[in-house]
Amino acid sequence: MSEYRVGMNVLATLKDRFRPALGALVSDAGQARELLEMIRPAQDAKFGDYQANFAMPLGKRLGKPPRDVAAEAVQRAELADLCQPPEIAGPGFINLRLRDEWLTDQLNAEVQDDRLGIALASQPQTIVVDYSSPNVAKPMHVGHIRSTVIGDALTRTLRFLGHKAISDNHLGDWGTQFGMIIYGYKHFVDRAAYAAAPVAELSRLYKLVHKLVDYQESKKALPDKKSRLAERQAESEQLKAQPKTGDKAADKKTAQTLSKAQDAAASQAHEIEALEAKIAAIDADPQLSKLTAEHATIDDAVLQETAKLHAGDSENLRLWHEFLPNCRDEIARVYGRLNVKFDYEYGESFYHDRLAPVVEDLRRRGLAQDSQGAICVFVDGFETPMIVQKKDGAFLYATTDLATIQFRKETWQPSRILYVVDHRQGEHFDKLFAVASRCGYETIDLQHVKFGTVMGAEGKPYKTREGTAAGLESLLDEAVTRAAAVVAETDTEGRMNADERREIAEVIGIGALKYADLSQNRTSDYTFSYDKMLLMNGNTATYMQYSYARVSSIFAKGGFDAAAVRASGAKIALSHPVERALGLQLLRFEETLAVVETEAMPHYLTGYLFDLAKCYSAFFENCPVLKADNEAVRDSRLLVCDLTARTIRMGLDLLGIKVVERM
Ligand code: ARG
Repeated sequence: MSEYRVGMNVLATLKDRFRPALGALVSDAGQARELLEMIRPAQDAKFGDYQANFAMPLGKRLGKPPRDVAAEAVQRAELADLCQPPEIAGPGFINLRLRDEWLTDQLNAEVQDDRLGIALASQPQTIVVDYSSPNVAKPMHVGHIRSTVIGDALTRTLRFLGHKAISDNHLGDWGTQFGMIIYGYKHFVDRAAYAAAPVAELSRLYKLVHKLVDYQESKKALPDKKSRLAERQAESEQLKAQPKTGDKAADKKTAQTLSKAQDAAASQAHEIEALEAKIAAIDADPQLSKLTAEHATIDDAVLQETAKLHAGDSENLRLWHEFLPNCRDEIARVYGRLNVKFDYEYGESFYHDRLAPVVEDLRRRGLAQDSQGAICVFVDGFETPMIVQKKDGAFLYATTDLATIQFRKETWQPSRILYVVDHRQGEHFDKLFAVASRCGYETIDLQHVKFGTVMGAEGKPYKTREGTAAGLESLLDEAVTRAAAVVAETDTEGRMNADERREIAEVIGIGALKYADLSQNRTSDYTFSYDKMLLMNGNTATYMQYSYARVSSIFAKGGFDAAAVRASGAKIALSHPVERALGLQLLRFEETLAVVETEAMPHYLTGYLFDLAKCYSAFFENCPVLKADNEAVRDSRLLVCDLTARTIRMGLDLLGIKVVERM
């Protein structure tokens, strides 16, 4: 059986054909596989459609001229039905050009298949996708949209490829923010405001208490920071006073130490300044300074409220049960707008009873140790240990994550878990995975699907105005409002009524927002811009949706029904180079999805769709469809249009983006 999934996957088919040849040339299976990976789409059409570059390293290994090795591989591989006679170029590149007959056979099979020829995984996996996962009752930020959109696209794609993808929104619903809200509620609630808009009031309370806690913590941190600054300064003075030894290396080292100490002192001084400014601002505010005086021990009190909640205090639990549904409703509204649904939303609170046993288990395995009153797991290669229980008995984020892996393993036996989380949590996950591999979860492939920060125009992390879930909603609203303007611009003839326009604007606005996120390599930061995301030409959802509508409109214009043409017995025949290029691009859909699957990188799919739309544009300019020379050519081209439209629609659907029939 093929090791690769071969449906319409051209690349996998080529690898399959070369596998026996390479197997005969190299005995090591791992090496053979590595060499097979050197078969890739050609960078330039003049080198054919695909290129195999393994002959150079293989020649070196075998001590034979690469061109001879290339010739031997080509001779051993069965390619006749698939490719034209391969060309061996330069030092030993193998240029592969697919036969037009083969290409059209594949395309014609695709036309008749609802899945566009894409095979289901031969070995379906169970994959948990942990995404979105905001901390409820705390400001939800654009990073959570990023996680939501990427996680949803991955879940959809994995499912389409035949895997059992389980989405689990690991809500932060049990953290210290509840201590703050409970404290705030007990001391500062505005009953009328709470009755009218509970979440807005809770969010006000959160922010207020956060500010007061921050004030106390800053004040407490100051003396220590100041004495450390003094130490650094003294150290610098001492280093400066040190006479030169004349030993170049030693003097250089001293100079380096000095500059390090000076840098450290400067950044410490900077921090102190910032803290002092923050404190002064609150002191200068009569209302706030009254509150800081009245609630001088608020930092401890807030921790106690959380501890009481976790210990099962009835009043705090009652409040938590009262607050949580409100907080969840608010988040659910954002999910509704984004059209995202989860299979499960267990959240951190669900694991509460499992935390103590996790720590017990770590002890039993000899992994956890007492250290300065806390319980820690020391992991090789990390400066700091993973703390699983604090001195005061509280458990941590990492403890919950260990319990979560345990639960997921018991419940679903996944072979892979994807954590779609901000790259700043990289160290947390590195440690978590290291510990997990030592406590019985080594068979699960745990992967941090990390993403960069969403930046604003000023080069700082993007912030919504209110910094709440409502703030996120206003972000969606803004995208939709701007999309409405785009719709108004394209509908110059006034073909649409107001309802239709509104509906289309929603699809385009939300699509633009999602696509802007998905089209970036997720590991990098990206700059949020409404203008860019709604561009009519460029790598945007708007352009893809427009291309889709444009292709579809051909059918309406000519009075053809796509399903009828498909059923008519008409066949695709490729007659023009740009038509062939479009056909080849259509066939690359499956190999693209395969990369999205293994790398968990949706931007390969957006890149593919963008290239597809460009190929279509060239085709559209060069190949008349409705005005084709004869019926056979016309029907063939209608089928090409239909396949393009279906591929765009399916591709966007896998990204969680809808299309409209006209815009
Ligand atoms: N609640 C966390 C945050 O907002 C993200 C949780 C990610 N998932 C996990 N299993 N740790 O930063």
